[in-house]
Amino acid sequence: MSDPIDEPSPRASVPQLLGEIADVGADRLRGGFSRPVFSAAETDLRAWFVEHAERRGLDVEVDRNGIIWAWWNPAGGPLEHAVVTGSHLDSVPGGGAFDGPLGVASALAAVGQLQALGVRPHWPLGIAVFPEEEGSRFGIACLGSRLLTGDLDPGKAAGLRDADGVTFAEAAARHGLDPARLGRDQKALRRIGAFVELHIEQGRGLVDLRQPVAVGISILSHGRWRLTATGEGNHAGTTLMGDRHDPMVAAGAIVGAVRDIARSKPDARATVGRLVPVPGGTNVIASRVDLWLDARHPDDAVTAALVAAIGDRAAAIAAEEGCTVTLLEESVSPTVKFDLRLRDRLSAALPAAPLLATGAGHDAGVLAAEVPTGMLFVRNPTGVSHSPSEHVEDSDAEAGADALASVLGNLLGLTGDIGHRAEAAASGDT
Ligand code: HGY
Ligand code: MN
Ligand code: MN
Repeated sequence: MSDPIDEPSPRASVPQLLGEIADVGADRLRGGFSRPVFSAAETDLRAWFVEHAERRGLDVEVDRNGIIWAWWNPAGGPLEHAVVTGSHLDSVPGGGAFDGPLGVASALAAVGQLQALGVRPHWPLGIAVFPEEEGSRFGIACLGSRLLTGDLDPGKAAGLRDADGVTFAEAAARHGLDPARLGRDQKALRRIGAFVELHIEQGRGLVDLRQPVAVGISILSHGRWRLTATGEGNHAGTTLMGDRHDPMVAAGAIVGAVRDIARSKPDARATVGRLVPVPGGTNVIASRVDLWLDARHPDDAVTAALVAAIGDRAAAIAAEEGCTVTLLEESVSPTVKFDLRLRDRLSAALPAAPLLATGAGHDAGVLAAEVPTGMLFVRNPTGVSHSPSEHVEDSDAEAGADALASVLGNLLGLTGDIGHRAEAAASGDT
């Protein structure tokens, strides 16, 4: 991690904050960043966040599910009905610099702005950093927020294994958590009065709308399924073509069928981004192939129908190859429509910001089942994400942090105070 830019003031901007972590978890093989949960890189990012939160006088704690909470509570009242913002620091393999960290850095910058205005909120303000949002290491997206809300059984979470066979329980224990205490945390949930997550837009909506910031409307339903095609492992040279039951051939046809079936349902999206042959030798006919399906649609029922059609087609393809196939659900998230009253408050605080739906999942989508939740999106000129190509211009990053500060101030009931002081600050009267 590069040295902090000579002791940035709590007014450090988002570009400055992100500049400090610009080389953390850089993936020389894939390009971009690989910051799996509890890896050295993600641990460095968590330390970076804690350092900046403490520099702003926030009280930091890590809860039993590995979520970091940083509290600004100058009124000293009970930690309840808090306004909470935040996001995640883990990434997909070879991901971009902004998916997750932009929301965390913007939260730090927004708190710095409010503090610099000299306001003293009557309610507590919190920043939350959720572990394993991408599900890149243990397979289930939003693992931390799902544990917090009870959406994921703690026993199932504890037993999840990464590619090296390490369980989530083992990895969590190595990071100071007690696997026996994972699970729904009613006390932590009760502290949240409203949650607003700022995130890079993972599409081109704001580019086309020529706006820097949008207010989120909804998240489409999405899920992950593991298909396993099983055939007969054998020698690549001595096995005649007619004698083969090759699951790799079945897997290849299934990938094509996924694309065709998704294309046949308007607005559906389905992807096979990960495929693992076993044993995986160049001169070996695989005995098994695991492939993971990511399927999404704005209508939960269509997502379910899409997966069912893919399962049926996969079974037929496998049978043609003398193989078998299984389909196992790993995680499913229904379509989420953000809290209307909160959405309207965000829009009232940001009248120029358009409303935008997203095709990407977020911890805010999981929390929406428990507390009023909203999102802000910041323009991504490439419209690309889960790739090193994702980008946010410095000016838009600043606009995002300003928007978040306005929204947080509004929700904390500071609008008048902020408005007055911001004008004074702008005119140099202070
Ligand atoms: O996969 C998603 O939609 C999110 O980026 N985790
Ligand atoms: Mn992501
Ligand atoms: Mn994200």
